[in-house]
Amino acid sequence: MKYIVLNHKMNMDYKTMKIYLEQLKKLDTKGNKLIVCPSDIYLTNFLEAQFIVGSQNASSNKDGAYTGEVSAAQLRSLGVKYTLVGHSERRKYFKESNQEINKKIRLLLLNKIKPILCVGESLNEKNSDSTKEVIFKQLKGAFDKLSKKNVDNLIIAYEPVWAIGSGNIPTKEEIETVISYIKDLIFQNFNVNIKILYGGSVNEKNIDIINQVQGLDGYLLGTVSLDIEKMRVLIDKL
Ligand code: 13P
Repeated sequence: MKYIVLNHKMNMDYKTMKIYLEQLKKLDTKGNKLIVCPSDIYLTNFLEAQFIVGSQNASSNKDGAYTGEVSAAQLRSLGVKYTLVGHSERRKYFKESNQEINKKIRLLLLNKIKPILCVGESLNEKNSDSTKEVIFKQLKGAFDKLSKKNVDNLIIAYEPVWAIGSGNIPTKEEIETVISYIKDLIFQNFNVNIKILYGGSVNEKNIDIINQVQGLDGYLLGTVSLDIEKMRVLIDKL
C-alpha cells in the first residue's frame, strides 16, 4: 500500500472539477491510499463523495480577524484529515518561514489533522552540495517543540524544488540518499519511523524508476493528479 496524495494546486473551475470528481470516483486505486487535496472551495465536494481529503494549507493562527484564512479547527470540523504544510510554492510566493510552518503543524496536530510536511532543496543548493544541510534546517525549524507522539502523526514529503513542474527527477540513488538521511535523523531524535513521500514531476512514465526507491511510502502528485487517465496508468505500475 502506497500513499497517493493529489495536490491540485490552484486548478480547475467548478464545472471541470465536477467532471473530474465523477471520473475520480471510478478510478481503481488498487488498495493504495488516495488522499485528495483540492482547492478549499471544493473540499466539501470531495468529502461528500467519501474521499479522504487533505487541504493545501491552513492558517498559522487559531481563529479571529484574519481575512481570507482558513483555520485548522475549521478544516477539522469539515472532516479534513491531512494538510500540506511548507510546500515550496508557499515558502517562495507567500514567504512562509520554518517558524510559521511550525506554528501550522502544532495547530493542525492539536486539531487531529495529520500534517504532510514538504521539504526539499533548490537547484543552487543541490549544485552546491547543501541538500542535507537545507533539509536539516527545514526539519529543525518545523519540528520545534514537537513530541514523539506529534511526530508519529506527521508525514514528510521530499520535494526537490528543481523537480517540481520541471519534468526532471533525481536519480533513484539521490532520492534514496535523502530519504534515508531524513528517516535516520528522525529516528535518532524521536524514535519514530517516519513515513516519507516523494514529489516533483512524478508521472506515469517515470513512476517505474521512482517506484524502485527503497523506503518510500508514497507519492505527492501535482500536474499528473489533474489527469485521471495518466493516474490510472501510474497506479497500474505500482
Ligand atoms: P508536479 O508533479 O507538477 O511537479 O508538482 C509536484 C508538487 O508540487 C506536488 O506537491
